[in-house]
Amino acid sequence: MSDVFAHSLVQRTLQRVTAVDAQQIALIGFTPATLAVDHALREAGLENRILGTYDEPAAGGCRPLTDLRDQPHDLLIIGHDANKAAILSAYRSAVGERPSPPAVVLAGTAHLDYHDPDFEMLNAPALVPSYATGSPHTHEHLFQCLQAAAAHDLRGAIVEFGAFKGGTTAWLARVATHLGLTDSPVIGFDSWAGFPPRRSVLDLYEHPRCVFTDLDAVRAYTEPFGVQLVAGDITNTYLQLAGRPLLLCFFDTDNYSPARAALELCAEQLVVGGSIVFDHVATTPDYVDTLGERIAAYELLPPLGFLHLHRTGVFTKIA
Ligand SMILES: C[S@@+](CC[C@H](N)C(=O)[O-])C[C@H]1O[C@@H](n2cnc3c(N)ncnc32)[C@H](O)[C@@H]1O
Repeated sequence: MSDVFAHSLVQRTLQRVTAVDAQQIALIGFTPATLAVDHALREAGLENRILGTYDEPAAGGCRPLTDLRDQPHDLLIIGHDANKAAILSAYRSAVGERPSPPAVVLAGTAHLDYHDPDFEMLNAPALVPSYATGSPHTHEHLFQCLQAAAAHDLRGAIVEFGAFKGGTTAWLARVATHLGLTDSPVIGFDSWAGFPPRRSVLDLYEHPRCVFTDLDAVRAYTEPFGVQLVAGDITNTYLQLAGRPLLLCFFDTDNYSPARAALELCAEQLVVGGSIVFDHVATTPDYVDTLGERIAAYELLPPLGFLHLHRTGVFTKIA
């Protein structure tokens, strides 16, 4: 919980208390932010209007939410940021709807962050990190695609184009195993010899820190996770996927030519409900030179009717 959140909650509380002339104020959540609000109300000489602090489970000497059932109250201060929806729903369950609902003060946007206990467990630091950093939510998107695929019992290969040190490839394999996608092989493609010579004016990206040539080390790291590796220029090697149903294709080649070469086959062989995810369709200013990967995606997938929600880089086959 940040100081920014507590500060914002205090400011919004003081505005609302004066706007609605609240007389019976319930602080919801035993948190640093509600302590700050409590302090600010007392400083303002409004201590007589504070009913107390309520939480579920009741902790730190505060009262259970059910105590508010028979207690008139006209203002709720929600002292949780990430869990604001859960605590407000808990209040509603405990107290019920009232003919004249109390005003509610909220603050912060931590509730908008992605939370999934499985994702958080699988995202624990690994020996080889994932370098899928071209887009801020690539990992969440890959995870959500596989989660939905597992929920619908979809099957097919999970492929990464531009596997580099294998950090993301191994992570995908761990996610697939965890979600029960055990008969979906995970395959990583890379040259492991640096970026091949440019074939197009749209091949714009090259960086020494993206070159890793120790294929044996990548094998040693990824094979225990059941990953298969295909070495060589993706512009040719993608053909090894011919005839295979595909569940998820992750493109992180940074350039146009390998993505454009492999995309047609991927789009064709992707199962309905499967997705093609790009690290550099919704990329950050650091990676503006990866424009070619984005051009390849837009050239091929929207005309085929793939669903793409703006700024996600996730293209889903819906029919
Ligand atoms: C940024 S790195 C990928 C990072 C990796 N996906 C991860 O998440 O850790 C880009 C990789 O694409 C590979 N690559 C680019 N063009 C290629 C091509 N035509 N054929 C094979 N590999 C290519 C490079 O060798 C490099 O390892």
